[in-house]
Amino acid sequence: MGYIPDDIIDTVRIHSDIVEVVSRHVQLKRKGKNYTGLCPFHHERTPSFTVAPDKQFFYCFGCGAGGNVFKFLMMKENIAFYEAVSMLAERAGVILPSAENPAQREKERRLEGLRHLNSLAKDYFYHVLINHESAIEARQYLAARGLTREILERFQLGFAPPGWSSLIEHLGKKGYRPQDLLMAGLIAESGTGRYYDRFRSRIMFPIWDAVGRVVGFGGRVLDGSLPKYLNTPETSFFSKGRLLYGLHLARQSIRETGYVLLMEGYMDVITAHQYGLKNAVASLGTALTADHVRLLMNYSRNVVIAFDADNAGVAATVRGLDILQEHGCQVRVVSVPDGKDPDEFLRTNGQQSWEDLVGQALPLIEYKLQHALSRGPNRTVADKLEVMRQVFPSLTGANNVEKEEGLKAVARVLNLSWETVAGEFKRFQAKLGGKRSNADNIANSMHNILHKVERLDARGKAEAIILRLILDDPSLGVMILDEIGERPFKTPYYHNIFKHCMDLAGRPGYRPEEIFNILESEEQSVLSRLLMQDIPGENPDHILKAYIRSVNRCIRQDRKGDLLREIQEAERSGNHRQSNDLLRELMMLKEIDEAEKTGDHGRVAGLLQEYRQGPDLRQQ
Ligand code: GTP
Ligand code: MN
Repeated sequence: MGYIPDDIIDTVRIHSDIVEVVSRHVQLKRKGKNYTGLCPFHHERTPSFTVAPDKQFFYCFGCGAGGNVFKFLMMKENIAFYEAVSMLAERAGVILPSAENPAQREKERRLEGLRHLNSLAKDYFYHVLINHESAIEARQYLAARGLTREILERFQLGFAPPGWSSLIEHLGKKGYRPQDLLMAGLIAESGTGRYYDRFRSRIMFPIWDAVGRVVGFGGRVLDGSLPKYLNTPETSFFSKGRLLYGLHLARQSIRETGYVLLMEGYMDVITAHQYGLKNAVASLGTALTADHVRLLMNYSRNVVIAFDADNAGVAATVRGLDILQEHGCQVRVVSVPDGKDPDEFLRTNGQQSWEDLVGQALPLIEYKLQHALSRGPNRTVADKLEVMRQVFPSLTGANNVEKEEGLKAVARVLNLSWETVAGEFKRFQAKLGGKRSNADNIANSMHNILHKVERLDARGKAEAIILRLILDDPSLGVMILDEIGERPFKTPYYHNIFKHCMDLAGRPGYRPEEIFNILESEEQSVLSRLLMQDIPGENPDHILKAYIRSVNRCIRQDRKGDLLREIQEAERSGNHRQSNDLLRELMMLKEIDEAEKTGDHGRVAGLLQEYRQGPDLRQQ
């Protein structure tokens, strides 16, 4: 059994969509934001097996099995963790460090070889750019665009010289055969079987994977000829839909700043980094894919879009946004003024003006509204319906607060009443298939939670909701420790999940589903069950406090039972002093109960404090 480093496991997980993997075994149907199907782990006639694409886990309401994509494969194929990771890695084209079977090892060696060739080519192009006479024009061009020597080095920009075989010869001297260069996408083969350099007279932008390995290039012409950019050909090895330019350099800054700056072009990213905006990455001229989104979400869910201001840019923006929001990202859009792209804007106006722009970035819905408005007045009913048709998709993935705000904005912009817009939205969702309105959803989830936890005791039920809230927002965890005690959960596995959550929460870009990887199998099921619960209502703070009270009530109830027994015991053995103390404690607990019945929370808090400061530390 090999050991697999965490970052590789992460890479595999990001590239393995759980919906896709499960779909190979279970027929799934979309239901709201989740998918459901017949559970493959127990016999059932109506589907209770559920897959949550946003958090990438599954849970069966029937048998309680749950976990992430690895756990699913482990259970389904009856294999070990290592094997599950290997299987998915294979499909994702990720190479595990110490694969055991010879075929796998051979493949690993081959891909490593391709990366090595790309890396050698990168060094060559860089060397040419910095030193060769043939690159004078390129050096002038880059200098004219304001790139410093330091930034050229950081992004390892290069120049592919004009000849047809410079690279073939350079690497040939090092003993590499054209066939290998062909596989690596560095050269091409003519109809007559002659090899020639793929990139000629181009400025070379090496492209790295998230782990920082060179996997290909974009090559830009120096003049206006076409195509402006030439890329390494698409293979499983180099796939634009899975790569984000600059991610390996941006990872740390994304975590630090708490958001990703998503741009369009190589030049935008490079300029951004030069101006200290190191959280910038770019998609490689393709529409955003689910792979891109998952890749980003590994670092942050907050995405600020800064696409070009030209028309193509705007259209791409509008298209790209829904997929981000469907995956649960918070999306804001920067509008770069005067038809500039971010690169030009930064150079003309500097970093401070840029920060101001980011500060004014509009939430997705507002941006879409503005975009719709900019195309003319919306006076007729048809105009208004058209605008709603455009913006509603970005509301379906939003949370309740965002929806509320979004509907208000639509009503304001279109000069309609909130009720009309909300009604229209409801119809829109109904058309999407079985989607419910906000209010229905809340009522329904409340009902679900109550229904599902009926069998649990009151404390277990309250604990489930409390832990669910903390998983979403770990900053609430401290309150639990203060208000309930050092071991707030008594339901099996909750304490461990809570601890892992609090540990991970310190890292920027925290997401509850990260916890799956450090949990044992049983704990994974419990975490799935928790994450499947919708949060009842819209004010976590409020709900949390109510359930904390409920837990404390249960704790008091238990304690009262114990006290009665202990008092009897003390009386029987004639220990009056002890029985008096116990009786005082019992009276105090009853007083707290009474105060709570009258709803006087202030008094309850006071009494609780007094109680906790009592003779011994009565926290549990
Ligand atoms: P400059 O024109 O040098 O400022 O480059 P840019 O990076 O700003 O390019 P632009 O905004 O025109 O395009 C955005 C991104 O789309 C580029 O960085 C490329 O990744 C991609 N792209 C643009 N044109 C082409 C092309 O002709 N072919 C391919 N394969 N990709 C392109
Ligand atoms: Mn540009």
